[in-house]
Amino acid sequence: MSRIGIVAELPGETRVSATPSTVGKLIALGYDVVVEAGAGQASAFPDDAYRDAGGAVVDCATAWQADIVLKVDAPTPAEVDRLADGATLIGLLSPALRPDVRESLATRGITALALDAVPRISRAQSMDVLSSMANISGYRAVVEAAHEFGRFFTGQVTAAGKVPPAKVLVAGAGVAGLAAIGAASSLGAIVRATDPRPEVADQVRSIGGEYLPVEAVVEQSTDGYAKATSEAYDRAAAELYSAQARDVDIIITTALIPGRPAPRLITAADVAAMQPGSVIVDMAAGQGGNVEGSVAGERIVTPNGVVILGYTDLAGRLPTQASQLYGTNLLNLLKLLTPGKDGTIVLDFDDVVQRSITVVRDGESTWPPPPVSVSVAPAAKPEAAASPAPAPKQGISQRARTGLVAFGIGVFFLVAATAPAPLPQHFTVLMLSVVVGFYVIGHVHHALHTPLMSVTNAISGIIVVGAMLQLASPFPVVQVLAAIAVLLASINIFGGFSVTRRMLAMFQKGSR
Ligand code: NAI
Repeated sequence: MSRIGIVAELPGETRVSATPSTVGKLIALGYDVVVEAGAGQASAFPDDAYRDAGGAVVDCATAWQADIVLKVDAPTPAEVDRLADGATLIGLLSPALRPDVRESLATRGITALALDAVPRISRAQSMDVLSSMANISGYRAVVEAAHEFGRFFTGQVTAAGKVPPAKVLVAGAGVAGLAAIGAASSLGAIVRATDPRPEVADQVRSIGGEYLPVEAVVEQSTDGYAKATSEAYDRAAAELYSAQARDVDIIITTALIPGRPAPRLITAADVAAMQPGSVIVDMAAGQGGNVEGSVAGERIVTPNGVVILGYTDLAGRLPTQASQLYGTNLLNLLKLLTPGKDGTIVLDFDDVVQRSITVVRDGESTWPPPPVSVSVAPAAKPEAAASPAPAPKQGISQRARTGLVAFGIGVFFLVAATAPAPLPQHFTVLMLSVVVGFYVIGHVHHALHTPLMSVTNAISGIIVVGAMLQLASPFPVVQVLAAIAVLLASINIFGGFSVTRRMLAMFQKGSR
């Protein structure tokens, strides 16, 4: 059984890597958990709460000497020295940007896992700490903007006069942008948003925003993030931002293309065109800034009275919430790494998530990991699909398909010509149902698969009733077929209910 150490972060970091709730769940995974005294203080988790959850509260050196150390921020050289030989460290290691951290960990025979390197694939969503922190940060960006803004967000008609709603522009509708749109629109503001990925338009509208398209083509990368925009796009977007800057009260920028400095969206001229008292939150200030004049970590007031916030610790400004989500992301990762639930980490390099996050394994650098392709990767271009020279493999499968269809038609006519009445009639109905069913279900959009499942449940119910009637048939073949029909249709019904139950459970509120 390994020991997990929850260490205190350095001053300035308000989050902690585990909450009392996640400590209890780590213990249930078979680990022995120790927590450095005061580690959860800044996130409102007192030592006693960790003790009540089953963890032991220990001094700094003991926590760092654990087999597995859980952290939020990347360790300093002094912190690396505190680790036990052969220990495992898990945290936000920024491996792409911090070669110094990678090297210092490799020299100590450590295994280092970067939680911020979890790939953006559906299976890894429960561990995607960048998304959970960006979600909190987008919300907090609106709270910071509302705090600085001298007016209501919502419009009101009062006895003292009519108050217009605030107008908010969100640039970049990724995770942080969508959270900002949701928060601003729930406060009553008029929210507009733009993003080079047109597929986000529906998401923007669904949370109360208006999508402003920029008419230019943008390619999407295979890793779930946007690709660099073209010059034509940037020109068209610049016009949109100039027009919006003259109209809106608040701008929140979240534009990011991974591995590049943040794109510059709002120019000094745009800022100068805004009304005094307007507020800009540049969430990308830490990566070079989307806004000319923003400074990472600072609050700037321009000569025309516009406040530009470049805070880089937005998630940490909601420390309890951020620690809760961070701790849950870490717990989900440890569930993946502890297949035996026996308090022992097993690192499987055939698993794309585990491979992607491993920066150093037993002192050997394993960074960078191979690139990961995700389902949002663009489909093959139509020209390529319509290529005149089909691959040989494609030709064979096409021939096989034609042969199968011809064979099926032959069998159908043979049965229709030779079988006694009323079998040919029933057989014809069955065949037509199969063909119609194939084309109808094959064209149902993915988003409608859940209601489709309810329909198939209803059809399975009819099958069960019909098959039960046939169980009384004098022919043994019919009885066997009816029994098989009852069994298969029942599996479909009960399977459908259990999947629905699991889906509903995902929306049930858990304890803190
Ligand atoms: P994301 O990758 O989910 O979203 C970024 C969005 O920007 C994407 O939708 C992308 O299409 C869009 N984008 C790319 N180029 C653009 C352009 N030229 N114009 C407009 N939109 C463009 O990233 P996420 O997680 O939402 O993070 C957004 C930003 O917020 C990042 O810079 C991240 O580092 C930062 N962040 C800042 C925090 C803080 O405390 N200040 C905390 C968390 C995240």
